[in-house]
Amino acid sequence: MITLRTITLENRRILFNLEVSEDQNRFVASNLSSVASCYVLATNGGHPFPFAIYADEEPVGFVMLTYGITGYELPSIADDSYCILRLMIGKQYQNRGYGREAMTKILEFIRTFPAGPAHYCWIPYEADNITAKKLYESFGFRDNGEICDNEPITVLRL
Ligand SMILES: CC(C)(COP(=O)(O)OP(=O)(O)OC[C@H]1O[C@@H](n2cnc3c(N)ncnc32)[C@H](O)[C@@H]1OP(=O)(O)O)[C@@H](O)C(=O)NCCC(=O)NCCS
Repeated sequence: MITLRTITLENRRILFNLEVSEDQNRFVASNLSSVASCYVLATNGGHPFPFAIYADEEPVGFVMLTYGITGYELPSIADDSYCILRLMIGKQYQNRGYGREAMTKILEFIRTFPAGPAHYCWIPYEADNITAKKLYESFGFRDNGEICDNEPITVLRL
């Protein structure tokens, strides 16, 4: 079973060492850099939620959710919305259904509105990341036509 867990002193190194395959490197930053970004967001008025993705008792991936400020260019629906960033499943754990199950858990968590009310959830992704695009579409996300920091924005009404 997939669960979302907080990053701890015990699991942090395993998480920082999780990698995607070489051809996927341009789709996500390293988990270390993502956790550093969460720190910067948290100390600058943002509401980041970094999570370790566990398959039973094994850390297999990472995701960070944000509410409020997220970066430089923001889509028109960014106010009072949640954003899913840096979703990754370690290369050795991919294609086992973990990413799909993690998305279900991520959306369940967002629908508890942990940082405040929201109408939308959005995800920026690289235009040629077809696997991610299809995965998001299967959960009801649709491109809204905006491009931010060169990435299309896909949006779900919560
Ligand atoms: C996107 C990602 C998180 C999916 O995780 P995963 O655990 O491998 O995905 P799942 O096993 O749950 O599969 C989800 C769907 O993607 C498909 N899929 C997974 N890997 C694939 C691949 N390499 N090529 C084509 N399809 C693939 C599966 O067939 C499945 O489709 P289905 O549910 O319609 O049958 C993972 O590929 C990843 O970490 N990619 C690199 C980082 C990335 O691109 N993140 C997204 C940033 S926006």
